[in-house]
Amino acid sequence: MVKDLQQIQEHVPDDKEKKLHKSLSGIRNTIMVMSGKGGVGKSTVCANIAMGLTQKGYRVGVLDADIHGPDMPKVLGVEDGKLMADEDGNILPVRVVENLELVSVAYLIDSRDTPVIWRGPMKHSVIKQFLRDVNWGELDFLVVDLPPGTGDEPLSIAQIIKNSQGTASPGAVVVTTPQDVALLDSRKSVQFARALELKILGIVENMSGFACPHCGESIDLFKVGGGRKAAEELGVSFLGSIPIDPGIVTGTDEGKPFIASGDGSSTVKAFEKILDTIIEDV
Ligand SMILES: Nc1ncnc2c1ncn2[C@@H]1O[C@H](COP(=O)(O)OP(=O)(O)O)[C@@H](O)[C@H]1O
Ligand SMILES: [Mg+2]
Repeated sequence: MVKDLQQIQEHVPDDKEKKLHKSLSGIRNTIMVMSGKGGVGKSTVCANIAMGLTQKGYRVGVLDADIHGPDMPKVLGVEDGKLMADEDGNILPVRVVENLELVSVAYLIDSRDTPVIWRGPMKHSVIKQFLRDVNWGELDFLVVDLPPGTGDEPLSIAQIIKNSQGTASPGAVVVTTPQDVALLDSRKSVQFARALELKILGIVENMSGFACPHCGESIDLFKVGGGRKAAEELGVSFLGSIPIDPGIVTGTDEGKPFIASGDGSSTVKAFEKILDTIIEDV
């Protein structure tokens, strides 16, 4: 009898759980942008997916879950943003443009040079707060930028969202570059997503070839085609390739995702194609 009562008590959601559930139920889709390696273009892809979705009329939130390297305020051009509280004490995300909002650990630290020195439980707790205590409102998409690898952050996001009953399983986009070492690590990301029963949206091959600005010929600096091959081998979708484009570097440095440039270049078209496939899939 006592045991039964304990069990019942354990299953009664507390106020915090209810709040988390309420918050998550306003989010229709979650897209986690992952990779095995750092520097392959996760934040770039994340920013362009988020901006591209906004341009298509969706309401989008960006959760910067790269706690030790929170780049999204810079990449989205809102480094001066501040997290405010609403009248109920919930956190208001930083507005990037209409229908695009961002939350990042970068807004909680003193200066952009200050390192975040936290262990796993602390990271889990801040990620939970970003999902539970932020007033996201109704979102069509929550796009999550992650650190490289299969550590605490992607695990926390996936578990928190999946444990909240009735919410859709998060989708995973795995970004890789074409070299063997990057592909080796991105295979791990796919297996990780599988183990967590995420919906694997597919693999993006970034830094795939470079069009010479002088002669227009394509140079395969890091090789090409490995992402597609890995996707085929692993039985997941190949979402598309993005070339190396100096415009992407300038866009990232200036806080203007390249997709917003609207210049009709092959790089913008590559992002658009990836976006359309993702939208179709979710
Ligand atoms: N396709 C690309 N062409 C040129 N530069 C790129 C491309 N993708 C990413 N970059 C640049 O590479 C750097 C690392 O990208 P980033 O998105 O920060 O990687 P990650 O988040 O995986 O560590 C950034 O300076 C970014 O502008
Ligand atoms: Mg990054």
